[in-house]
Amino acid sequence: GYAVPGVINRYRDWLPLTDTDPVITLGEGSTPLVPAEELSTVLGCEVWLKVEGSNPTGSFKDRGMTVAISVAAGAGSKAVVCASTGNTSASAAAYASRGGLQPLVLLPAGRIATGKLAQAIVHGAKVVQIEGNFDDCLTLARALADEFPVALVNSVNPVRIEGQKTAAFEIVDALGDAPDLHVLPVGNGGNITAYWRGYTEYARAGRAAGTPRMWGFQASGAAPLVLGHPVRNPETVATAIRIGNPASTELAIAAKEESGGLFEAVGDDEILAAQAFLASREGVFVEPASAAGVAGLLAKHARGEVDSGQLITVTVTGHGLKDVDTALSRRQSVAAEIVPTEVDAVARACGLTD
Ligand code: F0G
Repeated sequence: GYAVPGVINRYRDWLPLTDTDPVITLGEGSTPLVPAEELSTVLGCEVWLKVEGSNPTGSFKDRGMTVAISVAAGAGSKAVVCASTGNTSASAAAYASRGGLQPLVLLPAGRIATGKLAQAIVHGAKVVQIEGNFDDCLTLARALADEFPVALVNSVNPVRIEGQKTAAFEIVDALGDAPDLHVLPVGNGGNITAYWRGYTEYARAGRAAGTPRMWGFQASGAAPLVLGHPVRNPETVATAIRIGNPASTELAIAAKEESGGLFEAVGDDEILAAQAFLASREGVFVEPASAAGVAGLLAKHARGEVDSGQLITVTVTGHGLKDVDTALSRRQSVAAEIVPTEVDAVARACGLTD
């Protein structure tokens, strides 16, 4: 019969599920690897975008969540909890609901993109807005999971990382080998850890000749891994990565060091410019945080720090529709003129005549 695709069905041998765990999937993974023609021309490299906004809830979080919720359901959990800047909560809400578990989500009040908040609400999560930032929410989520019968599904839950590593598998499976360089945004440090694990496991199994250097980019107002210490009041337009004390700090540093990579910071203006570049030149609409990798790559290229001729993959982590408020707030041309229902007037408004 027909099995819904998804990362568990595609990569089960590489994942920590037992025979009795149910497979709770929405068909995540197998996302497009899109050649970035314009970026490739600018950089003199072969650049590919791993478009993770194409996952069921619009971000890479679904790869880990299918595993986390399947394992939680297999263990008999009735409820799951997470802290989130928005995407984890959207994903947890969807997968928990599908598996018949109650999702509880702790969010920094007023700092969640509208689309993500809508997802948590519509999927039936109990949404608790906290007077604090993501780091405070994560502390509280851990405490709830310690004291009550609810499973924690943040990326401090190791099975989340296991699911997310499948993105690296897909890249190697598509390209036939690992890239020279992998670039991605970094917030809590889970995803860079997951990619590094995926690349190293595949290399060890002989599926790739080597592993890429990992370049992680943070927003300059929320760059604890660049500074080397936690940031008390992280601030950035890229709310998804507005994190001051990453839970996976040690593992993220290991990924950077073992791969010969780096962490650097990019400014909010660079992030928004990269978001606009991706949308208007490559046809790929991503949320602000998701553009941080491209922003970093462009900034380093401008400083002459990107060798040409490399095979580069860049993860764009979440869909632009998650946060239309930010995208539109920077555009003057939104308030387009309203024209009468006449061809001449419409042609003039389109710039086809004067
Ligand atoms: N990009 C997006 C769109 C994200 O939502 C996140 C993290 C990241 C990048 C950074 O990934 O944390 O693994 O280093 N979002 C989490 C959340 C924190 O709650 O949705 P990371």
